[in-house]
Amino acid sequence: MSVKGLLVLVFVVVGAHAGSIPDYIHVCKRNNPELAQCIINSINSLLPRLKVGIPELNVPPVEPLLLPGSPLLDTKSGATHLKVNLSNLEVTGGSDFTIMELVPKVEKNYFRFKVNHPKVNIEGDYEIDSKILMLQLKGKGRVHLNITNLVLESVLKGKVVTENGVKHLKFDKMTTKISFGSGRIWLDNLFNGDPALGKGANDAINDNISAFFEELKPSFEEGLSNRFTQIANKITETFNYDDLFP
Ligand SMILES: *[C@@H]1O[C@H](CO)[C@@H](O)[C@H](O)[C@H]1NC(C)=O
Ligand SMILES: *[C@@H]1O[C@H](CO)[C@@H](O)[C@H](O)[C@H]1NC(C)=O
Ligand SMILES: *[C@@H]1O[C@H](CO)[C@@H](O)[C@H](O)[C@H]1NC(C)=O
Repeated sequence: MSVKGLLVLVFVVVGAHAGSIPDYIHVCKRNNPELAQCIINSINSLLPRLKVGIPELNVPPVEPLLLPGSPLLDTKSGATHLKVNLSNLEVTGGSDFTIMELVPKVEKNYFRFKVNHPKVNIEGDYEIDSKILMLQLKGKGRVHLNITNLVLESVLKGKVVTENGVKHLKFDKMTTKISFGSGRIWLDNLFNGDPALGKGANDAINDNISAFFEELKPSFEEGLSNRFTQIANKITETFNYDDLFP
């Protein structure tokens, strides 16, 4: 998720089991006048455990974050002839972040948050057949990516629905905006592994990495938003709303 959104939700969710709340989880009551700060403090104090996972709560390790299987970015937009597929991603640095802004409006089922990851590394599989920045890129292999100051700004909005007699929170599609400080990407095996063409294309991309990401950003934001919404709903659909938000 935004890994952040996931953390907020994980926090709220694990915080919901009154009675069985481990003492390392600091629960925030919804009527707390300093709710945002309370949630920020709770997430920060929970982070060391989230990094390695909390087996007794079925929370998997956030570090590294594995996005296996289905592609994160899988776009075939006719207009721009963009075909990019990123899958089986392993993200390192996702648990290291500062929360720049957090706006929880629990009564409106609205959460907005902005986080900065100083350093993120992503390794995964890619497939590309696209013209980006005047470069015709074609290849399939491993992708390596380093990003500094990755900022994710997400808005989650939901409503309370009743399904099978159980009241639970269901989120509409999350929106996520991405920006970053600097980045360096390397695509192995471009042009069937031709070393000269591959190096030339990678160098050209990195010479103008901001413009390169600018082209991919809308698809990236869309892919991330879809994925995060799925995860968030998977979590909330297993909980009765009144248990979730005491
Ligand atoms: C994207 O890559 C995954 C993993 O290699 C593959 O299963 C999927 O079919 C690909 N999707 C497209 C549209 O190429
Ligand atoms: C980077 O790409 C943009 C958009 O194609 C272009 O306007 C700009 O001149 C490029 N900058 C460099 C340094 O190549
Ligand atoms: C990312 O950073 C690591 C550690 O500094 C480095 O070994 C790796 O080559 C970098 N990857 C890219 C694509 O620049």
